[in-house]
Amino acid sequence: MFLEKVYTLPHKAIKRLDDDVEYLSIYIVQDYNLKLLKSIVDFSLDIFGDAGMDEWGIVPQIRQGNVFILKEENNRKVVGLAILMRGWEDPDQAYLFDFAIAEEYHGRGLGFHFLKGIIENLISQDFKRMGLTVDVDNIGAIKLYEEKLGFELITREDDEYGKGHHRYIMKLEFSEFLDRFGPLKE
Ligand SMILES: CC(C)(COP(=O)(O)OP(=O)(O)OC[C@H]1O[C@@H](n2cnc3c(N)ncnc32)[C@H](O)[C@@H]1OP(=O)(O)O)[C@@H](O)C(=O)NCCC(=O)NCCS
Repeated sequence: MFLEKVYTLPHKAIKRLDDDVEYLSIYIVQDYNLKLLKSIVDFSLDIFGDAGMDEWGIVPQIRQGNVFILKEENNRKVVGLAILMRGWEDPDQAYLFDFAIAEEYHGRGLGFHFLKGIIENLISQDFKRMGLTVDVDNIGAIKLYEEKLGFELITREDDEYGKGHHRYIMKLEFSEFLDRFGPLKE
């Protein structure tokens, strides 16, 4: 099996889409064929440009980490991508390495529902927290993480990714996520 479906987005999120998208589900990429791999790589390079991952980055992530995608069941088009890794010093922490929604779907609540669904899956895998870094000027992503999902701003690292690339370090304790959104549904 290439993809394991882990969560279907609530209907109210899909209703906000103009296209005739039936429903969108979150999948864990467990294996790949070259078409699926190409869809994921194209998505990553399209959104992140030089900072995106090619096959040499994505394949080890699929094999060793957790790669989640958001898409329709019978459609190869990737609508969202999230790449995670387990913390070395803190194995209870999932680090969000890449996170994006296709540009034409921005601002419709998909980023929120995608990341919320991923966090719920990670809680069921017994992870205790999520860490991430975000560009200090990425107002939309910061609002999503802080205000919508309850991430805490831990610190600011100047020149983290080279001169002028300043990042906020953020963390979300999953116990606080559960206080905010309630226990996971069976
Ligand atoms: C960041 C990103 C994933 C958000 O996805 P999205 O589907 O557009 O986000 P949502 O529609 O779910 O927005 C959820 C909340 O985030 C905030 N938000 C998202 N985009 C915003 C923007 N451009 N300006 C202000 N707030 C924004 C809002 O609080 C919004 O809630 P609201 O609509 O109730 O006000 C998306 O913009 C993206 O893929 N950006 C490019 C890649 C990137 O920057 N990734 C983050 C790397 S750390």
